[in-house]
Amino acid sequence: MSAMQINAPDFVTNQKLLQWVQETADLCQPDSVYWCDGSQEEYDTLCQQMVEAGTFIKLNEELRPNSYLCRSDPSDVARVEDRTYICSIRRQDAGPTNNWVAPKEMKETLRGLYSGCMKGRTLYIIPFSMGPLGSHIAHIGVEITDSPYVVTNMRIMTRMGRKVLDLIGPDSDFVPCLHSVGAPLAPGQQDVPWPCNDTKYIVHFPEERSIMSFGSGYGGNALLGKKCFALRIASSMARDEGWLAEHMLILGVESPDGEKTYVGAAFPSACGKTNFAMLIPPKSYEGWKVTTIGDDIAWIKPGENGRLHAINPEYGFFGVAPGTSDKSNPNAMASLSRDSIFTNVAMTPEGDIWWEDMTDTPPAELTDWQGKPWTPGCGRPSSHPNARFTSMASNCPSLDRDWENPKGVPISAFIFGGRRQDTVPLVYQSANWNFGVYLAATMGSEKTAAAAGTIGEVRRDPFAMLPFCGYHMGDYFNHWLHVGRTIQEPPRIFGVNWFRKDENGKFLWPGFGENMRVLQWVVGRVRGRASAVESPLGWMPRYDGIDWTGLDSMTPEKFSKLMEVDSEAWKKELLSHEELFEKIFDRLPKEFPHIRELMLSTLWLSPAHWAMAPERFSGEN
Ligand code: GTP
Ligand code: SPV
Ligand code: MN
Repeated sequence: MSAMQINAPDFVTNQKLLQWVQETADLCQPDSVYWCDGSQEEYDTLCQQMVEAGTFIKLNEELRPNSYLCRSDPSDVARVEDRTYICSIRRQDAGPTNNWVAPKEMKETLRGLYSGCMKGRTLYIIPFSMGPLGSHIAHIGVEITDSPYVVTNMRIMTRMGRKVLDLIGPDSDFVPCLHSVGAPLAPGQQDVPWPCNDTKYIVHFPEERSIMSFGSGYGGNALLGKKCFALRIASSMARDEGWLAEHMLILGVESPDGEKTYVGAAFPSACGKTNFAMLIPPKSYEGWKVTTIGDDIAWIKPGENGRLHAINPEYGFFGVAPGTSDKSNPNAMASLSRDSIFTNVAMTPEGDIWWEDMTDTPPAELTDWQGKPWTPGCGRPSSHPNARFTSMASNCPSLDRDWENPKGVPISAFIFGGRRQDTVPLVYQSANWNFGVYLAATMGSEKTAAAAGTIGEVRRDPFAMLPFCGYHMGDYFNHWLHVGRTIQEPPRIFGVNWFRKDENGKFLWPGFGENMRVLQWVVGRVRGRASAVESPLGWMPRYDGIDWTGLDSMTPEKFSKLMEVDSEAWKKELLSHEELFEKIFDRLPKEFPHIRELMLSTLWLSPAHWAMAPERFSGEN
């Protein structure tokens, strides 16, 4: 077999890169090889080609300028956690929460699958930077893919193209990310709009710091800078180098007198990160402003003044579409008003997009996410529950002026929150860093449509990182404890739950912009102004400790329901942590069993002991 022509531009001098591209081309046997420059012209050409191939539909230029709709294969709509592997050299380094196969064995399997897998297609090379170019917190990757859909999405989600290739010197390091949809074409064979393969593998080699993904074209399975690099590989780099790579949004809170406080918040997939990151305060919060640094991933390093500093390694948003509206998230609606790619949403007769709850009244007729006619009341959702928009951060009105600051922004608080219809109160503050790490490590959440599996079931999702931690979860907890011991000014740690329901199954908390009231208390605590009462879980706001102007429905009775810490429910909750502890027992932090015992024993005290007992909530104690 003769070597493929890889057409490398002559300024590419990195031997590791040239050799990897050559080997990959020889293995995958594409029809041609193309080095992406990241230009607008290149983007437009690829979009036009996809329109002609039936992959993209150009949306109405007046209603949705420079935007496209894409419908995936109905079998390829979310991340595939059971096909995701951490192939460390030793099984115990991947830990019990990750799938593992020995690297050598996995590479043999993948070699078979990749062999000739790009026949009839173009191999695209995408040089990209996670983080502002040249920031000491940023890192470079190169994705090889046979999917033009991936190229166009990567141009929105990362800084990519010639400007990054120029940064890769002869000795520069980069993370090689190989992706194929796994659908070779025989000569003359007609392509399908969304090529993919029933066999899927999303594979990470943490020691080698490389990624190989096969068979899926969707989201985190295919846009390898995101979950694969910025979380799984980066978390492993972060452990080795003393920093943090987290599934967190980053936002700034500006008070009327200009005081700025930055917060990182980790919620599991489809649990409100994008909404919280772009929050618009209620009308009564005159002069308060929330600004957006990122909506999904944070890279956090020790910086000046003994504090943690965070950057958003991404360049755009890959946001959950259903539920996004001018009511729930005007900033997201503005971001997706143009220059966007929509995947698996519905289309209006005018050539615009629609999804569940975008407007109060659905359009009279639509084409659904599978291309079928749809009318209100037909019994099917018009969009897939994990339908997504890919939009540029620079189109977001709430973007923080420091969002590309190479030094990052100083973080004052971490917030952790799952989707829990019972047990977990609206907000509480951990007594200290170690208790906070325990809180985050034992976070539970009901499963969402962002991944394949049973929706609604409660699972432990430590730090919202269960599907994204690239090494042993016990080591990860210990790493967090270690960071707390070495940082002079550690952020304060909070728990939240926007999703608690009453006995009729209705949300007790209005959420969205109203979350500002909770955020204000968090900032107040960090700044030493807000008062709090003690509870078995830590510190909690008193009814009078939150400003309720404009939210008359929040009576003291309703608030105490929202904040209730039920002793019996919490004994069960704490005992259920045992399952996770038992799984990782050989690397469980030695602090954890003690913390759990302390919390259990406090629950045995009479409820009247606690300031959060309903009759004490409204008191001025
Ligand atoms: P990934 O992109 O998957 O990591 O998730 P994300 O956390 O960014 O998800 P997103 O913010 O898009 O969450 C979408 C879902 O959360 C939708 O079902 C929203 O209706 C719901 N949601 C967001 N904020 C709130 C809130 O304050 N209250 C309630 N009840 N639901 C919310
Ligand atoms: C998530 O599932 O947490 C996402 C979407 O942010 S994806 O990039 O597909 O993983
Ligand atoms: Mn996410």
